[in-house]
Formats: sequence, structure tokens, C-alpha cells
Amino acid sequence: MVRLAPSLLSADFAHLARDMAALQAAGADALHLDVMDGHFVPNMTFGPPVIAALRPMTTLPLDAHLMITNAETTVASYITAGVNHITVHAEACTHLDRLITLIQSRGCTAGVALNPATPPDVLRYLPQMDLVLVMTVNPGFGGQTFLESQMEKITWVRNFRAERGLSFDIQVDGGITQDNIGHVVAAGADIIVAGSAVFKGGIDQISRNMARLRHG
Ligand code: DX5
Ligand code: ZN
Repeated sequence: MVRLAPSLLSADFAHLARDMAALQAAGADALHLDVMDGHFVPNMTFGPPVIAALRPMTTLPLDAHLMITNAETTVASYITAGVNHITVHAEACTHLDRLITLIQSRGCTAGVALNPATPPDVLRYLPQMDLVLVMTVNPGFGGQTFLESQMEKITWVRNFRAERGLSFDIQVDGGITQDNIGHVVAAGADIIVAGSAVFKGGIDQISRNMARLRHG
């Protein structure tokens, strides 16, 4: 069954702990933390101090999606804050190979995110990562429209994994709805990130929205 990692980007930032509890009660498999620096992407969210404050509020794994230009020099502070998984962007890292190895050596799992315009071939030359994140919107904002052009990239990544005999998870993030999740999972997604589709209608609808996504 597909795993759901709801994004806190669509939560109420004044009530993050409350919304996290609702997501856990609704059966989320992990919580997706969209870290934005106003530089790699044109929006800002939160960083290590807020994540450290949220860590005790849930027993779910925290999945940090770092949309930042300085991951190589700041990654340790996210690990110290208590995240379990870190995904970095291929486009934002000069020494991606080294960074993946560093994250794993510090006890977290490591993922590589690919923007819509980024070819997946970079995956051929990386050490064994734990996850590949195919972005199906241009990162920076929730509530955008799913880019159909990325479907063939999901398939490419799935085929690459099979050819190499690898076992990383394929995560898909951006514009996922009840209407398109079935195609995305059929193409190879193991973990779905969803923000607006989970929070649509308010906190009382979270459980229902997640059930619909799971059975989409
Ligand atoms: C976009 C983020 C996504 C975003 C998804 O930059 O990486 O995780 O929260 O939001 P929806 O599901 O609304 O597209
Ligand atoms: Zn994300």
C-alpha cells in the first residue's frame, strides 16, 4: 500500500502541533517538512529551531525536504533538530555525492530531489541513496497543478531502480489529488507527499481526505 507523507506546508502555522496530532491520528506514515530559504525557492518556511520544537510533538518519522542552497553547511543542524530523513536537491548541491554519504553517516536516511527540469541521469553517478523525490511541481508553494510531463520521469526512475537492483523509495511531491494519485502510484510511487489535498476543507476533513487518497 502507498505510504502518505502529508506536508505541513498546508497546515496552520499558528497551530502546527495540533495539526501534527491530527495527521498522526489520521494514519500518516511520516510528516513531510518543507524547508524553504527564500533563495533556492521564492518562499520561506521554517528551519532547525522550529523543527526541534516540533520533534517531541509526534512519534512519526520527520521527513525534511530541504529546498535550500546551503544544505552542505547546515545539514548537521537538521539532524540535531531530530529529523529522521533528509532529502536534498540535486540542483542545489555542489558535492551531492559527499552530502548523501554525510547524511547517512550521521544516522539519517538520505534522498535526492529532482526539479521538473532536471534530467534523472544524475542518479546513475550517486552513491546508494535511500529515496528519490520526483518533483511534480516547481518547488516553493503548495496548491500548484501537477505537471503531467513528470510521469515519464517517475517511470524512468522505477526502471532504473529495477535495472540496477536497487531498493530506494520513490517519493512524488506536488499537485497530488484524489484524481491523479492512482496514476502516480501505478507509475511507481511508493510514498506520496500531499499538502492541499490532505488539508482541504479544514482539520476536520483530514482523516477523510487521507482515506480518499489511500484508496484513490
Ligand atoms: C512544494 C513542496 C510540496 C508541497 C506540496 O515545494 O515541496 O511538499 O507542500 O503541496 P501540494 O500537495 O499542495 O502540491
Ligand atoms: Zn516537499
